Amino acid sequence: MSVTIKSEHEIELMREAGRILSIVHDEMAKVIRPGVTTMAINRKGEEVIRSYGCIPSFLNYNGYPASICVSVNEEVVHGIPDKKRILKEGDIVSLDAGVIYKGYHSDAARTHAVGEISEEDKKLIDVTKQSFFEGVKMARAGNHLFDISKAIQDYAESFGFSVVREMVGHGIGKKLHEEPQVPNFKPIGRGMKLRPGMTLAIEPMINRGKKEIWKLEDDWTCVTRDSQNSAHYENTVLITEGEPELFSYNKDLA
Ligand code: MF3
Ligand code: CO
Repeated sequence: MSVTIKSEHEIELMREAGRILSIVHDEMAKVIRPGVTTMAINRKGEEVIRSYGCIPSFLNYNGYPASICVSVNEEVVHGIPDKKRILKEGDIVSLDAGVIYKGYHSDAARTHAVGEISEEDKKLIDVTKQSFFEGVKMARAGNHLFDISKAIQDYAESFGFSVVREMVGHGIGKKLHEEPQVPNFKPIGRGMKLRPGMTLAIEPMINRGKKEIWKLEDDWTCVTRDSQNSAHYENTVLITEGEPELFSYNKDLA
């Protein structure tokens, strides 16, 4: 399937899917503290998603066994919630969630501090979030896809951090993953021209140390090879003629 251009009606549904997801993230952020389990965060996220009549899109996606991806410290993405995994002071935790509202998807991720964290990890979280916003500045009609990728990479690497290569952002709509792929590093060429009505999940995954990752035996959890911490930040974004619209972001919420 190729890139889909959303109609005004589809955009309205995706806007609502994103609005709900921003609330889901805000509610999950409120339960994060030392002593809470990663499963408790998953339960909270799923409860809020269902309270809005939405479906958690990750649950059973390619066999994924939970509603929320909860990735701690050196875990990059796709950490599986566990009732025995207890967050402790000084951890950082990345939460990735997706909802389906009336057949349309939104997808967003945030990385949070658990209690007091190191200055280096604060920097990692802030730079990862800002790298997303640097990419978003380029996300407008007439620019090319890899303008977004380059802006993310240049920003993150200017702090000495590294960009994960194995996983990328993506188009989103009736399906969680649509074309095009949205790398967080610049491939050769410019990528496709951006057009109004395209909807993209832009999602930098940034490591403090080296870019290499591997997958644990659970076949989901991705961790950094050098065991240094990693952060993730994502929103579902609409390309317009002017300013992009961030469906899953509300500046007053988490
Ligand atoms: N946000 C991620 C993505 O875009 C999470 C999906 S993986 C899942 O690929 F299996 F957990 F759904
Ligand atoms: Co995504």
